[in-house]
Amino acid sequence: MIIGFLGTGAISEAIIRGLCDKANYSDRILISQRSPERSTKLALDYDQIEVVNENALLVEKSDWVIVAVLPDQVEAALGKLTFRSDQKVISLAAGISLARLSEWVFPCTKVSRAIPMPPIEFGMGPVALCPQDPSIEALFGQIGTAVSVSDEEQFNLFGAASALMADYFDQVATVSSWMESHAMEPDTAVRYTTSLYHALASLTLGQTPDALKSMSDECLTPGGLNEQFLRTRMASGSCDSLKTGLDDILARLESSTGSTS
Ligand SMILES: NC(=O)c1ccc[n+]([C@@H]2O[C@H](COP(=O)([O-])OP(=O)(O)OC[C@H]3O[C@@H](n4cnc5c(N)ncnc54)[C@H](OP(=O)(O)O)[C@@H]3O)[C@@H](O)[C@H]2O)c1
Repeated sequence: MIIGFLGTGAISEAIIRGLCDKANYSDRILISQRSPERSTKLALDYDQIEVVNENALLVEKSDWVIVAVLPDQVEAALGKLTFRSDQKVISLAAGISLARLSEWVFPCTKVSRAIPMPPIEFGMGPVALCPQDPSIEALFGQIGTAVSVSDEEQFNLFGAASALMADYFDQVATVSSWMESHAMEPDTAVRYTTSLYHALASLTLGQTPDALKSMSDECLTPGGLNEQFLRTRMASGSCDSLKTGLDDILARLESSTGSTS
């Protein structure tokens, strides 16, 4: 099978490096002759990669086309191209609905959306998919946790949650900087903080819905430090702001994809 990446940006590179380095993926991969430094380097690093200088040729030669241009570039990029009914198109573009994509790539009808996250480069993290497609799940499942839904409105919930990255990193960095502000040596602060966040995140993996909900309670020794900290944060509105922030992103995604819920 030949996969073509229309757009050779940051997330295309992460997927390609994940596939080649972490999944020993050995089929041919075509990439656009864009972001020249990145596309040249990828072709140098992996024998199976071919840089294609025209989008039309890339689409013609590919079995699956991964659309990895920015959302406001999708219509212009796809509008000029001719797809076939035997191909699959997987769009990574945030906020571009399956209905709009399907118009632009007709007569191809096997159209999907995916949200890979940057850690996919290291074979980690969720890859949200819509609709369910076992062969696409199998590809992304080699380099992440493929999570599919058939309802595009539900897919938007994954889109909203994918906006948590900057906040998460900011929280880790803030804890570390706070230690530094109390005269701790920076490397020591980073070592402690990153290990703490990494370990706690690992404990949540694979939990059932009920077990996940009780993890916080289990840390709440009455009168203890965790209880005090959670109470302080709740009183300052930070827990509510997490939900409000997610609601705001969801509303934005729904308005761009034309969802109604
Ligand atoms: N980054 C993430 O973590 C992430 C995660 C999930 C989904 N996404 C989605 O993935 C898409 C790409 O994101 P990104 O972060 O990889 O963006 P990016 O780094 O800005 O890459 C965009 C790529 O598209 C190329 N491009 C622009 N117009 C083109 C055209 N007409 N034909 C072919 N290539 C074209 C650009 O080439 P030039 O540099 O030469 O202009 C660049 O290689 C976005 O729609 C985004 O919503 C990103």
